[in-house]
This record gives sequence, structure tokens and C-alpha cells, in this order.
Amino acid sequence: MKSDPAEPYGIDLKTLPRHVAVIMDGNGRWAKKRLMNRVNGHKQGSETVRALVTACREIGIEVLTLYAFSTENWSRPAAEVTALMALLKRFLRSERDDLDSKGIRLNVIGQKYRLPADVQTEIDGATLQTRNNTGMVLNLALSYGGREEITMAAKRLAEDLASGKILADDITETALADRLYTGGLPDPDIVIRTSGEMRLSNFLLWQAAYAEIFITDTLWPDFSKQEFLDIVREYQTRDRRYGKVVCTSNDGSQQ
Ligand code: IPE
Ligand code: IPE
Ligand code: MG
Repeated sequence: MKSDPAEPYGIDLKTLPRHVAVIMDGNGRWAKKRLMNRVNGHKQGSETVRALVTACREIGIEVLTLYAFSTENWSRPAAEVTALMALLKRFLRSERDDLDSKGIRLNVIGQKYRLPADVQTEIDGATLQTRNNTGMVLNLALSYGGREEITMAAKRLAEDLASGKILADDITETALADRLYTGGLPDPDIVIRTSGEMRLSNFLLWQAAYAEIFITDTLWPDFSKQEFLDIVREYQTRDRRYGKVVCTSNDGSQQ
């Protein structure tokens, strides 16, 4: 009998997170510690991306969302933004076939139109090539901001209302969620932030309402598959109450 891939890692397949989201932070500090240019940190960080994508696919995560570039990151020095865009282009080009062969569908969330034309072309190519894959969704958050996303969804609702497609009573949580970049995908069960910062930095503000949060001091380029598996195992021990009271009976079962 074929064994499930997650089992050897001591991960319970029944309570696997469906959606894992990651704020990949600390590339600059990783480079600084080595007296290198920040761009070297971003380069090393893209190796971590490769490893994490592979690990998530291996254990059976349905959706992996990676925060790669925020709407606020446009305010960084032009040279760093240019280098990040070049790295992104290179990453998409080099990973496209590999993602496809692993059954991963690439999806970009964020203001794609603000990205350089050549990056958009790579995104379109990789998205098209992988569009029918059902093994995992890889959401790359690019020029992404949670407030921008919610504002855009509100605007879409307003347009649908104005054109008579919907009524005011049709404006529900589901209707708004459907109009976010992540429409149709489950909310993240886990949000991980590397490099020790205790903030969301405008990431998945709506969707992370009930996500379990994990903050690690590890800088993104040093984040390993091992540490990721530790987080998944710890997640499986947490009690997700969603605001309710959970009564545990004497025999330990939840009622
Ligand atoms: C995360 O690393 C990558 C991006 C935001 C693009 P940083 O570049 O923010 O690294 P630190 O926080 O300066 O160490
Ligand atoms: C968040 O990291 C954005 C990404 C990881 C892409 P930042 O480094 O931009 O966040 P702040 O500035 O520390 O909040
Ligand atoms: Mg940072």
C-alpha cells in the first residue's frame, strides 16, 4: 500500500492546514549580517521559496500564499525594486516547468498591472501553462496590499449595485470575499512571519481573520523545511475555537 507523504513527518493528515500564507521577511538583514548587498539576501530568499513550495506540495497543502512584494515596497530605493523585479522574472522563468510538472497552479494576487511589462509577460506565460493543474495553488502576492484589495472589492460591489446586477441586501461577507484576489480559495489556516516582526504589514487583512499566527526569528533565507514541518505539527496541537466555548468531556472528546 502506498503511504501518505505527510505521515513520515508525524503530521496528521486529517487536520492538515488547507492554506498556508507566509510573510517572507528578513532578506535584507540576512545579507547585512554577511556584509553583502541586500539583493544577495533576496537571491538567497528565492532558494527558500523553491524549497518551501516543494515541501508544501509534498505534504499535500492545497494553497500556499507567499508575500513577495507589497504595495508599500514600491517606496524602496529604485535599484532594489529593479533588482527584485529582475529576480522575480528569473524565478518565474526558471520555475515554470518545475511547477507544472509538480501539478502546481500559479496565481498572482495583487496589482499585476503595476509590474514591469516583461514581468507581466512571464506571469501570464506561467499562469497559462499551469492553469489546469490541481495539485496545489501557489499564490504569489505581488504589489499586494490588503487595504487596496478590500477597496477594490468594495468598488466591484458598488459597480455591480449601480448596474443592477446585485441589490444592497446582496452585499454579504461572501459577496465581498468572492471579489477579493483570493476569491474562491479557502482562508489561510496559518500565517507565518519570519525575522521576528510582530505585524501583518497589510497582508491578507480580511482573509487572516481566524488564521493561526506563527512568528519565528529565523530570517527568510535561513527558513527550512524542518522549521516549516515543526510549525505544521504545532498548528495541529492548537485549539481553534473561533470565538466559541469548547467543552471537553471527561473522556477528552470535544462536545
Ligand atoms: C523581505 O525581506 C523581502 C521583501 C520585502 C521584498 P526585506 O527586504 O524586508 O528584509 P529586511 O526586513 O530588510 O531584513
Ligand atoms: C512585508 O515585509 C512585505 C513582504 C514580505 C513582501 P516588509 O519588510 O516590507 O514589512 P515592514 O516594512 O517591516 O512592515
Ligand atoms: Mg522587511
